[in-house]
Amino acid sequence: MPLSLSRRSIPIRTAAAAALALAGLLASAAPAATAAPAPVLAAPDIPLANVKAHLTQLQSIATANGGNRAHGRTGYKASIDYVKAKLDAAGFTTSLQQFTSSGATGYNLIADWPGGDPNQVLMAGSHLDSVSSGPGINDNGSGSAAVLETALAVSRAQFTPQKHLRFGWWGAEELGLVGSKYYVNNLPAAERSKISGYLNFDMIGSPNPGYFVYDDDPAIEKTFKDYFAGLSIPTEIETEGDGRSDHAPFKNAGVPVGGLFTGADYTKTAAQAQKWGGTAGQAFDRCYHSSCDTSSNINDTALDRNSDAIAHAIWTLSAGTTTPPGDVYESTADVSIPDNGAAVTSSVTVTGRTGNAPGTLKVGVDIIHTWRGDLVVDLLAPDGTVYNLKPFSSSDSADNVQATYTVNASSEVANGTWKLRVQDKAAYDTGYINSFKLTF
Ligand code: TRP
Ligand code: ZN
Ligand code: CA
Repeated sequence: MPLSLSRRSIPIRTAAAAALALAGLLASAAPAATAAPAPVLAAPDIPLANVKAHLTQLQSIATANGGNRAHGRTGYKASIDYVKAKLDAAGFTTSLQQFTSSGATGYNLIADWPGGDPNQVLMAGSHLDSVSSGPGINDNGSGSAAVLETALAVSRAQFTPQKHLRFGWWGAEELGLVGSKYYVNNLPAAERSKISGYLNFDMIGSPNPGYFVYDDDPAIEKTFKDYFAGLSIPTEIETEGDGRSDHAPFKNAGVPVGGLFTGADYTKTAAQAQKWGGTAGQAFDRCYHSSCDTSSNINDTALDRNSDAIAHAIWTLSAGTTTPPGDVYESTADVSIPDNGAAVTSSVTVTGRTGNAPGTLKVGVDIIHTWRGDLVVDLLAPDGTVYNLKPFSSSDSADNVQATYTVNASSEVANGTWKLRVQDKAAYDTGYINSFKLTF
């Protein structure tokens, strides 16, 4: 071997290996085929009755607090407390964000679902305040209740999305998007850039409904449109005032946004009544911003469909772009690699598959070693065919081989015993195979 002076002369095993040896784990278990994690599931149906039960509570709160749930009024804080208690009980990490507007304290409620990639955050939100002239059940109890029930469905499913999920209920939207602007403006730039999407729901149960999809981020828009297309419900692009709700501050900060809307004070046309039913020549919501925006100002069908669409979008958009996990066969048997010696192998046995291995067989290699250049690493198919994963390199002095290689194994029969073969071809540094994993 080429003797290098920079080389450590005393082989040193890693602390991790020493700990494993002490724990008696180096005497290893037999290779095991483990079941793959379940693929990403379809979104659950959001029960309309649950969404409506939240609206009943918001109506009661308004009734008990002077007929509204407006910023700075007791009905707003009671609404926040109601939503927060449900989320806390369901396992969310909640926080109240306070701000001041028009001389009154306002609140945003943020609820994080533990887990997921903190660098990829999918958010959904709605404003929880009403105008002072009424209880605000369609505007915007509807969005608030549907987002709440979707969050509770995440908890019931103990959903484990790839992305991190965050839900928001905004204060003082009716005073000019005050709460959502406050949230976005007070997010550090680094946090803002982690938000991969914001979905907004403001008025989604209008009594004479249309099915409007915001035409902002194309991927979000398509997710909603696909959902409605699957139900054969025509949609239109939202045109009743871009930037008139809480997605605007996110959009202005460069976050991809989208959302749903069933219409406010614009009039439903004859063509729209033709495709959606309801009454042409009448506003989508005749009680918009008025005292009659009560629990009877809701179209149940629209609220139900939009609630399910929210869950569909949350489930679909949070899964990320990873393909569903394959079946994993792994050996965690530790195999020590003799210094400058004979090749050793670690084996996994694949059974119960039909046909050949995939063209993109993933080979997970975890070798602990103090000079990985010493090592030649091969994959051996059941018939002995050799696929070299890593050549010898006298100059690669880094520790360890921890990598996933992709092998075109499509000419190999899947079933049988696959081996990871490792040979150390230079003296001094040593190590062991920590684990070997195949993903079909
Ligand atoms: N709360 C909103 C507002 O009055 C309702 C609204 C009107 C809306 N037009 C919209 C919400 C368009 C979303 C999209 O400003
Ligand atoms: Zn609103
Ligand atoms: Ca060596």
